[in-house]
Amino acid sequence: MPTFALTLALALVVSASGQGLVEGPVAGRYALDPAPNYSEAVVAGNLAFLSGTGGDAETIEEAVMQTMMSLNDTLATLGASVDNAVSARVFLSNISNWAAMNPVYRSFFTGSRPARTAIQAELVGGGLVEIDMIAVLPNGAPGAASA
Ligand SMILES: *[C@@H]1O[C@H](CO)[C@@H](O)[C@H](O)[C@H]1NC(C)=O
Ligand SMILES: *[C@@H]1O[C@H](CO)[C@@H](O)[C@H](O)[C@H]1NC(C)=O
Ligand SMILES: *[C@@H]1O[C@H](CO)[C@@H](O)[C@H](O)[C@H]1NC(C)=O
Repeated sequence: MPTFALTLALALVVSASGQGLVEGPVAGRYALDPAPNYSEAVVAGNLAFLSGTGGDAETIEEAVMQTMMSLNDTLATLGASVDNAVSARVFLSNISNWAAMNPVYRSFFTGSRPARTAIQAELVGGGLVEIDMIAVLPNGAPGAASA
């Protein structure tokens, strides 16, 4: 794709969401707002790999809701939603929150739910939950010549 067309496509994505989509090291691969140590999301082909994200709520229900909203927001900037997720990993600071996490998590999917792993883990930042996802983008990578 010519540079100007790519720049335009990226500018449109940025203006739509306020989040930056930057070109990654490989053609056709893009990353949202790179944090110092990782990218919020990386698109490779028509797959979006979302970094683990969490919430800062006091209850597991609220934390799962915040986390799923955040993942959905990221996917929305890529023309998708959590319904396009094919795989999810749920990390709980305490596995005893597993039962309370499920209904909130499940409520975000209108169709079939992604394959999932849920485990207990020590989380950076002391949150109750962290979730990452892999999603298939229905329209392919934003800015790509064709899906
Ligand atoms: C990135 O990694 C460095 C080194 O571990 C750490 O000090 C820093 O806090 C990290 N940045 C963020 C935003 O997490
Ligand atoms: C998830 O994102 C989609 C846009 O991709 C939006 O239509 C939908 O309302 C969002 N879901 C929630 C629960 O915010
Ligand atoms: C998980 O929560 C249970 C019940 O509140 C508690 O007994 C247990 O010590 C907690 N485990 C961890 C690893 O925090």
